[in-house]
Parts: sequence; C-alpha cells; structure tokens
Amino acid sequence: MDIIFENVNYTYQPNTPFSHQALKDISLEIKSGSFVAVVGHTGSGKSTLLQHLNALLQPTSGRLVLGNVELPGAHHEQIKSIRQRVGLLFQYPEHQLFEETVKKELLFGPKNFGFDLKQVETELNDSLQEVGLEESVLDRSPFELSGGQMKRVALASMLLAKPQVLVLDEPTAGLDPLGQKKMMQLFKSLHENKQHTVVLVTHNMDDAMRYAEKVIVLNQGTVECVKSPSELIHERDRLKAIGLDVPEPVEFVEYMKARLGVLWEEEDINEQTISRTLVKHLKGGATS
Ligand SMILES: Nc1ncnc2c1ncn2[C@@H]1O[C@H](COP(=O)(O)OP(=O)(O)OP(=O)(O)O)[C@@H](O)[C@H]1O
Ligand SMILES: [Mg+2]
Repeated sequence: MDIIFENVNYTYQPNTPFSHQALKDISLEIKSGSFVAVVGHTGSGKSTLLQHLNALLQPTSGRLVLGNVELPGAHHEQIKSIRQRVGLLFQYPEHQLFEETVKKELLFGPKNFGFDLKQVETELNDSLQEVGLEESVLDRSPFELSGGQMKRVALASMLLAKPQVLVLDEPTAGLDPLGQKKMMQLFKSLHENKQHTVVLVTHNMDDAMRYAEKVIVLNQGTVECVKSPSELIHERDRLKAIGLDVPEPVEFVEYMKARLGVLWEEEDINEQTISRTLVKHLKGGATS
C-alpha cells in the first residue's frame, strides 16, 4: 500500500500550555514495497511521524493516505485494518508489551485480528528463531527480559500479525553489534523476499545508507530533504549543520582528499569505489 502525507501537521496537547507542534507541513510519499529510512536529531519528530503510519496518532490538520484509508476521518473498522496491515515496533518495547507471558504476548495480535490460533501456535517456534530468541522464553514474563530480548519479543509479536508494512522505531538500539547486524539482515530479507514495505528510524547513518532506497531527513518537525543514499553522500555539510552524523565512508573520502591529496572522480561512495580510487592513487593516477 502506498502512503502519502499531504501537508500534515501534528500538535501534542493542543490548546493547553503544554501544546507542542511536532510535525510541520509534512508532505511525502512512501511507495508500496520500498525500504525507507527516517533520520533526524533527537526531538525532530521521527517517532511522531511513525505513529501516524498505523493511525496511533492522526494529523491535527492535513491529509494522510494509508492505502485505501484516509486520515483523519476513517471509521473504526478501517483503523483496525490499518493496525493489522501496518506493524509498528515502538522505540521503547516496554511501552508495547503488557501480557503476563511471552506466549500470550505473541498470540495477542493474531487473536485480536481473528487469526486461526491453532495455526499461529505452530508458527511460534519459527517466529522466535527468526528474531533470535530461545523457546524457553515463552513462559516467562516479558518484563523479566533484557531490553534487547523485549525488543525481539515485540518484533516477533508484530510479525505474527502478518503486516505488509513494517514500521520500526530504532529497532537495533541497545543490541550488541552482532545482534544489530542480524536484525538488519532480517529486515532486508523480509523486504526482498516478502516484498514488505520497511520504514526504519535509525540514528545509524551507515545502516540508513546501506539498506534504504530513500532516506527522509527530518529537522525540527519538517522534512529537510528526501534523498537516495547516492544523493545523500553529497549532503555532508547539510547533515552536519543539522547535527547529524556523516556516514563513515563519506568522512573517509573527505580525509583522502584533504590529507592524502586523492582526486575523487566517482559518483558513488562505497567499498568498491574507495578501493578503486586508492589503487589508482597509489599508482599515481588519482592525485589532485
Ligand atoms: N506526548 C507528548 N506530549 C508533548 N510533546 C511531545 C510528546 N511526545 C513527543 N513530544 C515532543 O515532540 C517532539 C518530537 O518528538 P519525537 O518523539 O517524535 O522525536 P524523535 O525524533 O523521535 O526523537 P528521539 O530521537 O529522541 O526519539 C519533541 O520535541 C518532543 O518533546
Ligand atoms: Mg523517537
């Protein structure tokens, strides 16, 4: 399903002294089946934007189209169908989990959406394995688990409801490096093999550049720009100006140019173009 924001504004606690406009005139499009990253400094509106995608929040003004459903103004059944089609993994898993046991937690979504629970029970073990959890967690309370394990339970629970769109709010934060890499590989394979749309909020610019087809850059509640990774590498100064990390390969190329006098002639910045240019430089052919 295509997702279209048209001049969307969102204000928390309107008409109170605590009123805060978190999204300002957001217009953008997320195509069905695409992999999109959302980056921005803390407080730029990433989580607020994501919570609109499964109608947890609705625009204060403007229009949001989620497939065949339009917000605001959708009725209860339409919202329910959006909640099933768009899975949202919260930034803080403890805000998402509430059942007594992991097993109950995993079955909650499918039960709520009227799935055949006997069938879902046969999928539980595969699902745990997919997200990197042992079967032994099934009878434990989700609140006894580590932050990383809770995140994995919330992810398994989301996937068992078979959403088309995976909305992931910093899913790898708090995981060890290997865990982060495996989880990113899982999203990549769900995107490539099952054509899921993926919308990923991350503070890791390298992940955004490596996995996403488009990167949405938010700045103080507005869309600063929407760029492909190969376009974003030319936005080093802009990213720095709004307090974002510059991807490591981009910094490395800057270093090569400034310190080693390397002449950079490639369009893309990646392992291949860096090693190609370095070899050329060492042979005396890429020196500025
Ligand atoms: N429930 C709320 N009530 C009032 N203001 C809020 C509420 N939730 C968020 N905000 C404010 O809205 C703005 C955007 O918050 P949001 O959580 O979307 O940012 P974010 O980009 O996800 O930040 P982070 O990287 O820290 O997760 C912030 O200024 C925040 O303080
Ligand atoms: Mg956030």
